[in-house]
Amino acid sequence: MVFDPSHNPYIARCKEYYGWLIDETDASKFRGGWRDVLKKERLIVEIGPGNGWFLVDYLKTHPEDGYVAIEKQYKRGVRCAEKLIRNNLINGKIIRGKGELLKDYFNDGEVAKVIINFPTPWVKERHKKHILFSDSFSEDLYKVLGNDGKLLIKSDHYQYMNVVVEKLSGQNFLIYSNKEGDEASLPPFPTFPGYERRFREDGRGIFTIQATKHQ
Ligand SMILES: C[S@@+](CC[C@H](N)C(=O)[O-])C[C@H]1O[C@@H](n2cnc3c(N)ncnc32)[C@H](O)[C@@H]1O
Repeated sequence: MVFDPSHNPYIARCKEYYGWLIDETDASKFRGGWRDVLKKERLIVEIGPGNGWFLVDYLKTHPEDGYVAIEKQYKRGVRCAEKLIRNNLINGKIIRGKGELLKDYFNDGEVAKVIINFPTPWVKERHKKHILFSDSFSEDLYKVLGNDGKLLIKSDHYQYMNVVVEKLSGQNFLIYSNKEGDEASLPPFPTFPGYERRFREDGRGIFTIQATKHQ
């Protein structure tokens, strides 16, 4: 073996989870057919599941839904797939790939709900190009959602949520936004032991956005 500065052992390990973990290069083969593959009528998509705590909670409490989580990092994709297998959550799949490529993975109207918990805010100027929300992402999100489809997003980062609202405003979404503890309450929003637990322990404010697609 020679020194390879970009060596990542999890790239090879992804292949061990065939059927549970799908690379972005193969994910478009399932476009339009996820609900058939998962044998469920409603498709939920999570972007950036991290180590997959939320998806396990969700799938255990919503066995009626199909679930696809899109995770950019190989190692985290593997962690998510391990959890699906360990818990025998056969109505869930992981795409190891970029959330920006929604239109490659899903047909128009295929998705009932998109969940994004604590997206990486990319605060440094030179990292801003990695921010998930752009005009084209917002447009693609609108297209892949079905009628009354929803986006749920949580973050502790006020500026990031401003970007989200600005980008969503370019589409016909009905937007509710909220800071936890405010009087205007949002519809029920699940909590979970991912980044959120850490942020709660630090006493940080948590912001939520719920956007509903209007025709
Ligand atoms: C701050 S972590 C939050 C993880 C988890 N949602 C939680 O709340 O514990 C952000 C996650 O999003 C993933 N991520 C960042 N950009 C992404 C993108 N463009 N597409 C898919 N996943 C992404 C990161 O690899 C990381 O796992």
